[in-house]
Amino acid sequence: MGMNEHPLPDTAGLRGDYGAMAADWTVRQPANGYSAEEHDVWRTLLRRQSLLAQRHACPEFLDGLAALQIDERIPDFERASDVLRRRTGWRIVGVPGLIPDDAFYGHLAARRFPVTVWIRRRDEFDYLAEPDLFHDFFGHVPLLFDPVFADYLQAYGRGGLKADALGAIEMLARLYWYTVEFGLIETPEGVRAYGAGILSSGGELPYCVESAAPHRIGFDLLRIMRTRYKIDTFQETYFVIRDFRELFDATAPDFTPYYAELARQEVLAADALLPADRRFTPPAGSPR
Ligand code: PHE
Ligand code: FE
Repeated sequence: MGMNEHPLPDTAGLRGDYGAMAADWTVRQPANGYSAEEHDVWRTLLRRQSLLAQRHACPEFLDGLAALQIDERIPDFERASDVLRRRTGWRIVGVPGLIPDDAFYGHLAARRFPVTVWIRRRDEFDYLAEPDLFHDFFGHVPLLFDPVFADYLQAYGRGGLKADALGAIEMLARLYWYTVEFGLIETPEGVRAYGAGILSSGGELPYCVESAAPHRIGFDLLRIMRTRYKIDTFQETYFVIRDFRELFDATAPDFTPYYAELARQEVLAADALLPADRRFTPPAGSPR
């Protein structure tokens, strides 16, 4: 995840080793330093999540996953970066965990994706409060192979540096949340997931596509930027894009007037529904 999902980082409460990092908050990945147990946690998560992704992830994610040729051991960031750089010019940098907003945006603006170097313990298999290597790598890296999404994420980084100066980080963080982390996309087979927060979750990946409980609403930039989100439960609302081009084009204009407009509007609850919302109905016979 990005750091703007959490009002951190006072690094004192975080798990990573922030002692050994460079000025840009990066650390070298201890690619040969993972234990057999850590590789085993990776393998178990990878198997479960890959199976679920075959059913519920968008085709662009599955293409990127295949291109990465991840195997049963924790991936080497250098090797993966070599493959990725040739495709879209992005690369992966290791980080100790959550990093400050401006450092994060700076990396994205330079087509560097920060990936946490440590992996969760087995007793945290299904949930942990901070992003780890599995979430960051499995959830985020595959879509960086899609040229349009890759450009969107870089533009987001640049927009972040600007929003910082305009005091609009919170609005922009909601956009990140409802697209990069929890976004859904239309496909000929129905709605599928592209957000990393759902793609790395065993419970929420089937839920976001199949459950009748949450709202699924057509993408609307200003609507998203005024909608709160919950960080400790499955989402109550997902926003559905038609394709990555829609996302890129809708976010291309200068946001400065949008931020001014949003400052005058009331913020919406995570489960709000508006008359103008374009709602998607879940597949018939869906579980709740
Ligand atoms: N166009 C936005 C701005 O001017 C930047 C942006 C691009 C933000 C893509 C998010 C995603 O601030
Ligand atoms: Fe993330």
